[in-house]
Amino acid sequence: MLLESRVLGNRVACEVGGLRLWEPQDDQTIDRLRALWAEHPLLVFRRQALSEDELADFSARFGPLERTVRTDWASPVRPEVSLISNLKDAQATPIGGLGDGEIQWHSDQSYMLNPATGAMLYALELPPEGGATSWVDLCAAYVGLSDRLKRAVDGRCGIFSYAKRLAGYQGTDRMISEEAKRKTPPILHPLVHTHPVTGRKALYLDSTTTVGIDGMDEASGWALLEEIYEFATQRQFTYRHHWQVGDAVLWDNGFTMHRREAFDPTARRLMKRTTIFLSGERHIVPEGVLAALA
Ligand code: SIN
Repeated sequence: MLLESRVLGNRVACEVGGLRLWEPQDDQTIDRLRALWAEHPLLVFRRQALSEDELADFSARFGPLERTVRTDWASPVRPEVSLISNLKDAQATPIGGLGDGEIQWHSDQSYMLNPATGAMLYALELPPEGGATSWVDLCAAYVGLSDRLKRAVDGRCGIFSYAKRLAGYQGTDRMISEEAKRKTPPILHPLVHTHPVTGRKALYLDSTTTVGIDGMDEASGWALLEEIYEFATQRQFTYRHHWQVGDAVLWDNGFTMHRREAFDPTARRLMKRTTIFLSGERHIVPEGVLAALA
């Protein structure tokens, strides 16, 4: 099938047409998607109709799927698929995670030693208003940094804490199992990486999870992070996605952060997400070190 691509906005995203993701894709198509993905951290596929197996099978063409520490968000049908939703079952228990509130700029899995940096989110039910998701291209943001800020972050590691992320969640999302706690100790990741395909440098950030910078006192680390977040999330580096039912969006958390706007809690929103271990040969894949041992 002929693949069409159209750059959206300021090059953060690229809309890909002509593909029926519920059908198996040949290797040539996957290679073309990989090439586009290296240039644009976000690929948008519209008008899809995917079962959980089809979503998972397409995602798995880019790497093994992760079953995340949020086993409470996993689909009972296909556990590699997480339900991102404010819907509740007959016992008023949330069927998935992340509810209806605003979610600040973050990178999925940044709190993991070996993060699975690929993600695909598929929209099934949407509120009439609100709930848009934005992404920031952290390669473009790095290029735009002043020499002073580049020198300040190059070679530095951020301290990433899942406890901080949890404190920002609503309701039952704040609660995790003992096993999930054990798997998410505070860790360090370099704040700057080089993309193995494009050779471009990128920031690696997560405003919901970083608690400081290794080797800097608390106040100076916070001040530098604040300055970097303010700079990196300017409009010229971002793309805001207005969801339509049937949209599937594939993104690389290795050089992006994303945020979601709140929506009316009485409206229904149902999204399904996969999480993908991407290869360090083609993607930025931060390697973590335990903060306590560093
Ligand atoms: C997420 O942050 O992974 C979810 C984004 C969304 O619900 O749009």
